[in-house]
Amino acid sequence: MPNVVVIGAQWGDEGKGKFVDLLTQQADVVVRFQGGNNAGHTVVVGGEKTVLHLIPSGILHPGKACVIGNGVVVDPEVLADEIAELKARGFLKDDEQLVLSLDAHVIMPWHKALDIARENRMGAGKIGTTGRGIGPTYEDKVARRGLRIRDLLDEARLARKVKERLASAREELARLGASFDVEEAALLKKHIDLGRTLAPYAKDASLWLHRAIKSGKSLLFEGAQGTLLDVDHGTYPFVTSSNTVAGNAACGSGVGPTALDRIIGISKAYSTRVGSGPYPSELMEATGDRLRQVGGEYGATTGRPRRTGWIDVLALRYAVRVNGLDGLAITKLDVLTGFPEIKIAIGYKCGERNFDEMPSDLETLERCEAVYETLPGWTEKLEGVRRWDELPKAARTYLERVAQLAGVKIVAVSVGADRGETIVLENPFQVPRR
Ligand code: IMP
Repeated sequence: MPNVVVIGAQWGDEGKGKFVDLLTQQADVVVRFQGGNNAGHTVVVGGEKTVLHLIPSGILHPGKACVIGNGVVVDPEVLADEIAELKARGFLKDDEQLVLSLDAHVIMPWHKALDIARENRMGAGKIGTTGRGIGPTYEDKVARRGLRIRDLLDEARLARKVKERLASAREELARLGASFDVEEAALLKKHIDLGRTLAPYAKDASLWLHRAIKSGKSLLFEGAQGTLLDVDHGTYPFVTSSNTVAGNAACGSGVGPTALDRIIGISKAYSTRVGSGPYPSELMEATGDRLRQVGGEYGATTGRPRRTGWIDVLALRYAVRVNGLDGLAITKLDVLTGFPEIKIAIGYKCGERNFDEMPSDLETLERCEAVYETLPGWTEKLEGVRRWDELPKAARTYLERVAQLAGVKIVAVSVGADRGETIVLENPFQVPRR
């Protein structure tokens, strides 16, 4: 069975959770490979709401394994709470169902304090991070001074590293004018305890995945955030601190790139963005408010209202290129019902200059305005639609135009929040392995 990667093709919050949930039914293992608890989705099972930030929702399916790869940054408290909540609800009965990479880096309390203190100091130039300590943790990883899950399991090593890192974090926090009233002994004890809680799951995840692939298991790689938030390929510096693109599914989990058989991008039928940064197709008026209201566009992690806009095919074409997308799944098409006309950003204008590909220079991009193509809308409700030819003609024309301009085929369309409210045109698990 092939291995499939699901990636956000925009700025995150594309509705990946629903497709991951749908595809999980056909996978044996679901893998997170980057990001941390800056991501999040709410899953409703049996009428009960569970919010998961770190563990893939595949954990709710008995018999499926979930892997948190080396590329993820793990807040051990958040992970321990998710495990406890899942167990309290009768999930994760078998500890073998969850694998946590020994090499994943740990978000420590000072990383969160630094994230918030730095943002506060930046004023108007702030990135609008989720405040979860993601950036400072990746920074320590790249600077080769981070703490990894394996360090939580070795008390002497943990004590040494905590002493060293805490002292330097205190210095920086003091410089930033932030207080950090955490006692070293208490912090150490707490993390030794967290290490004990997480120990049953901590493994060589790369080896575990290698064996799973060898034994014919099928893997689903679940991307977090989106392509335009990638630290290399996004709208830097208004990005997250990890590589969100498909290539990182290999690096962030320890499998070779040849194991990635199919790459699927997820895009809303319009667009949204949380936090600061350029967004040429943003709608600042009533249409944007309507998209926010109808689409329920408020962050799952922070509750912040999302910025909203029309779909941008320059951004999608870029996502097709940097991820090597094999197909695109469109979400929330139903939200567009009732708009008299629907626009597609097909180019940018920046002063006298016109662009038909995303400019790589941020300052240019910040001054760009979208140039639109306008298509007629539709009034029919879409929730009951299950087949492509049942969609209103105007909706099909819209999707066909998006696919043509983005240079990718549409493999699925979501017309409502429910798992069943989906039109599947091509099943990525039913293609041959590479
Ligand atoms: P950080 O990942 O918390 O450092 O935040 C950096 C940027 O990425 C900010 O603009 C956040 O709003 C954005 N971001 C982080 N995680 C998500 C997500 O899951 N969805 C959408 N935006 C996100």
